[in-house]
Amino acid sequence: MKKTLLLITTTILAVACTQSRVEKLVRQMTVDEKIGQLTMFTSDWSVTGPSMRPGFEKDIREGRCGNLLNAYTASYNRKLQEIAVNETRLGIPLLFGYDVIHGFRTIFPINLGMAASWDTELIQETARVAAVEASAAGIHWTFSPMCDVSVEPRWGRVSEGSGEDPFLGSRIAEAMTRGYQGDDLADPATIAACVKHFAAYGAPQAGREYNTVDMSERWLREFYMPPYEAAVKAGARTVMASFNELDGVPATASHHLLTEILRDEWGFDGLVVSDYTGIMEMTFHGTARDTCQAGVQALEAGLDMDMMSAAFYNYLKGSIERGEIKMKTVDEAVRRILRVKEELGLFDDPYRYCDEQREASQTMTPEHLATALKMAEESAVLLKNEGVLPIKKGTKVAVIGTLADDPNQYLGSWRAAGDGSYPQSILYAIMDYNGEKNVVYAKGCRQFGEDRSGFAEALRAARSAEMVVMVIGEDYSWSGEAASRSNIDVPGVQTELLEKIAALGKPVAVVLLSGRPLALERESKAAGAILEAWYPGTMGGKAVTNLLFGEANPQGRLPVTFPLCLGQVPVYHYMKNTGRPYLHPGFKYESHYLDIPNEPLYAFGEGLSYTSFEYGEVSLSADSFGAKGSITASIEVRNTGDRAGVETVQMYIHDRLASVTRPVRQLKGFEQISLQAGEARTVSFTIDPETISFWRRDMTYGPEAGEFDLYIGHASNDTKAASFSYED
Ligand code: GLC
Repeated sequence: MKKTLLLITTTILAVACTQSRVEKLVRQMTVDEKIGQLTMFTSDWSVTGPSMRPGFEKDIREGRCGNLLNAYTASYNRKLQEIAVNETRLGIPLLFGYDVIHGFRTIFPINLGMAASWDTELIQETARVAAVEASAAGIHWTFSPMCDVSVEPRWGRVSEGSGEDPFLGSRIAEAMTRGYQGDDLADPATIAACVKHFAAYGAPQAGREYNTVDMSERWLREFYMPPYEAAVKAGARTVMASFNELDGVPATASHHLLTEILRDEWGFDGLVVSDYTGIMEMTFHGTARDTCQAGVQALEAGLDMDMMSAAFYNYLKGSIERGEIKMKTVDEAVRRILRVKEELGLFDDPYRYCDEQREASQTMTPEHLATALKMAEESAVLLKNEGVLPIKKGTKVAVIGTLADDPNQYLGSWRAAGDGSYPQSILYAIMDYNGEKNVVYAKGCRQFGEDRSGFAEALRAARSAEMVVMVIGEDYSWSGEAASRSNIDVPGVQTELLEKIAALGKPVAVVLLSGRPLALERESKAAGAILEAWYPGTMGGKAVTNLLFGEANPQGRLPVTFPLCLGQVPVYHYMKNTGRPYLHPGFKYESHYLDIPNEPLYAFGEGLSYTSFEYGEVSLSADSFGAKGSITASIEVRNTGDRAGVETVQMYIHDRLASVTRPVRQLKGFEQISLQAGEARTVSFTIDPETISFWRRDMTYGPEAGEFDLYIGHASNDTKAASFSYED
């Protein structure tokens, strides 16, 4: 009892101390100094937006820039921090932010790839590793996790998120937040997380970057908000407002988003930063006559920090003097920023993150690289395999495609401080494993363009081998920010070459490098096996080789639907039934296309293994439950193949009758199990009122009485069914 009392007292004193130090500072600060704390500029070490700004060191020295992005290394950030601490009147430390979204120097697969692992523990570990490496290089804050749900494969940033599902996206957002922030933000090996891009940035009309987003509040709440909320509830200390408008209001100045939902409903008390020049862009959106007015609107909506618009820097003082905004509002924004600096321990030791010894000793360590290898192996999704994989060691293999020998591609977009010259290429990793004499290589063709001059050599190589590994896909720059595509085909003449090689009649395995779902109808006909490897990171070459030769068993499951063609988009697993579901093929007046099926080529949750799994029947602890109750759904899963494997058991529900239409199935649980050959295990899920809760007709959130379908299985389109009921 005494211990608890002491802990409570200490905590209260610590919080009081933090607030008193921040309060004391706010009372001391001039208006100019306060405006400086609300301002973030970029260094010139990397470009992540449309504009640069010279003279940021002078701004730091004059106390007019209190936060910096895109600066790193312990020595460089120490130099800048010394300016802020030693040469400004109050010595308030700088806050250094950077896009560490899938690793800092050790680069993991792109986030869509990591989502395909469904391994939230390992994803959390990758975030922790990223924090260890980034925090030693002077970085306090990462602009991650990216929590944007997306069902839009044309959009380049679908590569940066966790795919189409709000439940999976929420679990991953929580895991990454915990990985970055740990249990103590003042720990020098942890960094502040940033929930971005708030909100619904992943739904741009026509998949065109930065385009209009418009959806009902219900759809927003049900399918787009959960991962943001999960990251906030996991303790993320910062949020980034998104570029897009939502319901006619730019998110940067949306009081509904930034105050009513984020702060009032979810209880968020951290800082909100605009995205790069997001405040200025409100003049293009047409809701602010100029950047000055935009700045006032953003502050009043609940935004705190201006990334790169220089809106507060140039105009806020005048707005305050003209009474256009209250000092109270400005002070609250300053407090939120100073509190994060305080929580990071920057006032106690501004240089605790500039640790050259740690930077040298804890970067790209064997342990970190081992984590990257495991993550890359777990991220790959085996979409098709007709006896082609795994390849027997010693087989004469023709490796074809420039991407097979271009390891710089494997780091993908947002590669932070990753070194593109470090990774071993897929080609060299195969040579290492299979013996150089058993490998013949031909460039074939590039990942874009119409150059067919390498076709003949590629066909010769294929003829000389027992089987072919063809590495095709997109250039990594074709996904990420400002990289929307008008189609989702495999670019250039890669598929044409694949079809010619396939016509030789030899086994062909395709390794696909892409940052989005691609339309693979032709490729699925031509290749005997397709392994989606995304952009697999620093250890991608070895990981792909281990998977091709069976040293690792593929376990990835699609976190996003792969449509048959762009014409199906948007297509995802939580579709609604409509009033005319397509139950009678050939019958005209039902919801279908004249020329293609409704079903995607590869469904959400799909992915093959080198072993096989069989599911028993679903058993329920009871057929119904009430408001204070729950039931347990169990199912036996058996590994019926001849090698160990990992199965991700997925649980979906369907509400048969409700006050609003409900998806035909929604992911509401998953569990990953590792089974030896022949081993069986029973997996159980608890179903309670939260499992079946949704945004009801009156826009309250909760369950409704009724009958439910329950689906448990290997993929959204491969499940065993049961049913249960709920009584209020
Ligand atoms: C970019 C991105 C955002 C990133 C920021 C800083 O425009 O939209 O994701 O964190 O600017 O680089």
